[in-house]
Amino acid sequence: MTSYADFYRQSIDQPDAFWSEQAKLIEWHKPFDRVCNYDNPPFVQWFEGGQTNLCHNAVDRHLADRAGQAALIAISSETGSERTYTFQDLHGEVQRMAASLKALGVAKGDRVLIYMPMIAEAAFAMLACARIGAIHCVVFGGFASGSLASRIEDAAPKVIVSADAGSRGGKALAYKPLLDEAIRLSSHKPDAVLLVDRGLASMEWVAGRDHLWNELRETHADAHVPCEWLDSTAISYTIYTSGTTGKPKGVQRDTGGYTVALAASMKHIFDGRAGETFFSTSDIGWVVGHSYIVYGPLIAGMATIMYEGLPTQGMDKQPHGGIWWELVEKYRVTVMFSAPTAVRVLKRQDPALLTKYDLSSLRALFLAGEPLDEPTARWISEGLNVPIIDNYWQTESGWPILTIANGVEKKPSKFGSPGIPMYGYNVKLLHESTGEELTVPGEKGVVVIEGPTPPGFMQTIWKDDKRFVDTYWKSVPSKLVYSTFDWGIRDADGYYFILGRTDDVINVAGHRLGTREIEESISGHPQVAEVAVVGVADALKGQVAMAFAVLKDSSLAQDSAAALKLEGEIMKLVDGDLGAVARPARVRFVTALPKTRSGKLLRRAIQAVCEGRDAGDLTTMDDPAALQQIKDKVAV
Ligand code: PRX
Repeated sequence: MTSYADFYRQSIDQPDAFWSEQAKLIEWHKPFDRVCNYDNPPFVQWFEGGQTNLCHNAVDRHLADRAGQAALIAISSETGSERTYTFQDLHGEVQRMAASLKALGVAKGDRVLIYMPMIAEAAFAMLACARIGAIHCVVFGGFASGSLASRIEDAAPKVIVSADAGSRGGKALAYKPLLDEAIRLSSHKPDAVLLVDRGLASMEWVAGRDHLWNELRETHADAHVPCEWLDSTAISYTIYTSGTTGKPKGVQRDTGGYTVALAASMKHIFDGRAGETFFSTSDIGWVVGHSYIVYGPLIAGMATIMYEGLPTQGMDKQPHGGIWWELVEKYRVTVMFSAPTAVRVLKRQDPALLTKYDLSSLRALFLAGEPLDEPTARWISEGLNVPIIDNYWQTESGWPILTIANGVEKKPSKFGSPGIPMYGYNVKLLHESTGEELTVPGEKGVVVIEGPTPPGFMQTIWKDDKRFVDTYWKSVPSKLVYSTFDWGIRDADGYYFILGRTDDVINVAGHRLGTREIEESISGHPQVAEVAVVGVADALKGQVAMAFAVLKDSSLAQDSAAALKLEGEIMKLVDGDLGAVARPARVRFVTALPKTRSGKLLRRAIQAVCEGRDAGDLTTMDDPAALQQIKDKVAV
């Protein structure tokens, strides 16, 4: 067996040899001429000249060996439905969806925005786009009209695929009115909207624009839509993520590199094998859902579980608190993927729920998206008796940057550390201001990646190469390196520890949110003059958003009933604009915000005060009383 150290070294020192070996894990219609083109840094082209198709590798490829095996298992504890699609069934459904999209005018290179709950049709739509070479842009179903509108504006989709409603805790959440409002707000209008009617909410129909999947599916029942062979470098999808500005970034990915990266990660990191079942509890709206609900497991020939519902018992008594473990037992899940927040939620329940089911099929539980605290890791690892594997990555990377590659060599994990750099990632720690490389163990620096970034990594920001270079590659003086915007330290054994973001991105229950976006939404309230939003440590959610607002009429804040009413109004405004995921935990009213003399908001100082820490060097602060006010408000 190769040692991981050798495997890793080859990936960095001989990337062409390394990745051409990995490229054999997928099927190519036409072989590539060049493995890695890094002639124009930081832009990388992987497998130039090659042609392949994501959908072919996820679905069609498996028809020869496993047509009758489970591919997609769609379960909703909300509606009580449970259905298994074999690879053969999936092949049929994806072609029906592809034919419907084509009938609505979608051609290669067109964008299709997908705004859907966790139902099988969402996966059909993603795979159908990949099949015909359309670029999908999946927007998280928990986002509301404002977020959706800015994404429609940027992606300019020809067609939007959506549904009447999602459901949470037994309550239907209508999607259609939010979508109609978002289309109204956007200057770009799609030609058509394709809607799945689940019978959960009535839909106001826009004649000529809206089409029903339930009907088109019948029309195209026998559709035969072959895979479009795409250049390896052709765009497969974009996914929006938050950054420092209020404008979300469309992270853009290729076709061939991404397919190879996922196939390789399924083998070397997740150790998932064809014919087994993979269960990721994420959502298709996030990068984990793209890579490890839809594409990764299917490429590996595994069945993947798509679960709509809560992890614990809801108000309506649905589902029961052991639902995840029941699914593991029932479908013989071998690899599971979740987030620390979800485990912290489970921890509040009866521990007997973990021992009630036969979990002997499970080999590992992967957790990602936020720091994994030691008590949570210990609790779940003792409860399940399987390795808990922390993995650190980003929407931008598409697959793990730091973890343990158990498929290559079973190296020990360390509590509090997601692990060591994965093959293909030349990870370094740099000094925040000088940009010098830190080599002494235990020194704190910014986690960066030296180019060329590996296959599967973002190609650029959709329609904005300049923003891609300026945002990610210019943060360190005189060096072209990709900044993750995370603080980290490395120990003497080469294990990394992630200490949080260097920018204004916060992580609420594993959901990545930009504080600027929340601030912009709150500023839309007529009474608000100015606002600062910071992420504050929370025992359950990792972080929560806290807002501090200056009112136009400061007397309102003195009246506690009026202040409470305003706080409610502001929360409602954020719910309607961005979605409840972005709602601040509290909105406090102050008469001034702490700023530097040049007018820059001191978010880090506000955050420190909220967490009861020392606010650091405040010599540049303009008005110390403003920070004191925040201290007083937080103390209440
Ligand atoms: O700050 C890091 C944190 O989440 C950010 C990326 O979030 P997102 O783009 O939503 O991608 C999630 C993909 C799993 C990172 O910049 N983060 C992610 N994983 C970890 C983490 N922080 C600590 N430990 C992790 N394992």
